Amino acid sequence: MADALATQWARKGHEVTIGARTPEKAAVLAGRIGHGARSGGLREAAESGEVVLLAVWYEGIEEALGRAGAADGALEGRVLIDCVNATSPPAFTLKTGGGPSVAQRVAALAPGARVVKAFNLCHESVWRLTPPAFGGRPLGVPLCADDADALATVERLVTEMGCEPLHGGGLERAGLLEATAAFALGVYFGGARPGDPRAMFPPFEIATGGIGPVATESV
Ligand SMILES: NC(=O)c1ccc[n+]([C@@H]2O[C@H](COP(=O)([O-])OP(=O)(O)OC[C@H]3O[C@@H](n4cnc5c(N)ncnc54)[C@H](OP(=O)(O)O)[C@@H]3O)[C@@H](O)[C@H]2O)c1
Repeated sequence: MADALATQWARKGHEVTIGARTPEKAAVLAGRIGHGARSGGLREAAESGEVVLLAVWYEGIEEALGRAGAADGALEGRVLIDCVNATSPPAFTLKTGGGPSVAQRVAALAPGARVVKAFNLCHESVWRLTPPAFGGRPLGVPLCADDADALATVERLVTEMGCEPLHGGGLERAGLLEATAAFALGVYFGGARPGDPRAMFPPFEIATGGIGPVATESV
C-alpha cells in the first residue's frame, strides 16, 4: 500500500519519505518510487510528513506507531491516514470483534494525530492505476474523519489521483468502513464461488428511492 500510494503522491510532486523498521527495505522502496523520495526509520518518516500513511498489518499497528514516536507526540497535529484492514482469509471476519475499530485504536495510540480512514476498500493494484477509474467513472474513495481540515487534505490527495472522495462520516463510522472491506473480501474470495460486491448496489437514483442528491440535503 505504501508503495502504491506513495508512488502516486510522489508523481504529483509531493515530498515523500518512506519509513520502515528495517531502513534498508525503506531505502529500496524509496529508490523504486524515485521522484526524490527519501527513506529512514519510522520516526524519521513520521516527523517528516504533514500527512503520514500507516500501512502495516493490523497486528503491527502498536509496534509501528510506538517506533514512530506516537506516544511522545511525534504525530501530533499530523494527518494520519489509516488504510489498515483487520481481516484475513478464509473467514474474513473482523479481528477487532465488537471492540473499537482499527481507526479508533490508531487514534488512541497516536494522541493528537488527525486520523483519516481511507484507501482500505481496494486492492493495492487498484491504487497503482493512473487514474483508478472504471467505465469512465472515477473510483469513489470513502473517507471517515473527525477533523475537517484533515479530511480536506486527504480529499485533495484522492482527487489528485483521479478518484472521487466520498464522505463516510466521522471516525466513529470507520469501523463500518472496515466491516465493509471485510464483507466485500468475503464476497470476492470467501464464498463457494467468487462474487462481485458491486452487483449488490442498484444505480444511485434507484438505491435512494428516487431521492436525488439535492433533495437529500433537505431530508
Ligand atoms: N495489500 C492490499 O491490497 C491492501 C488493500 C487495502 C488495505 N490494506 C491494508 O494495508 C495494510 C498494509 O498492507 P500491505 O499489503 O501494504 O502490507 P505489506 O506489503 O505486507 O507491508 C506491510 C509492512 O508493514 C511492516 N510491518 C509489519 N509488522 C510491523 C510492525 N510490527 N512494526 C512495523 N512495521 C511492521 C512490514 O515491515 P517488514 O518488512 O519489516 O516486516 C511491511 O513493510 C494492511 O493493514 C492491509 O490490511 C492492504
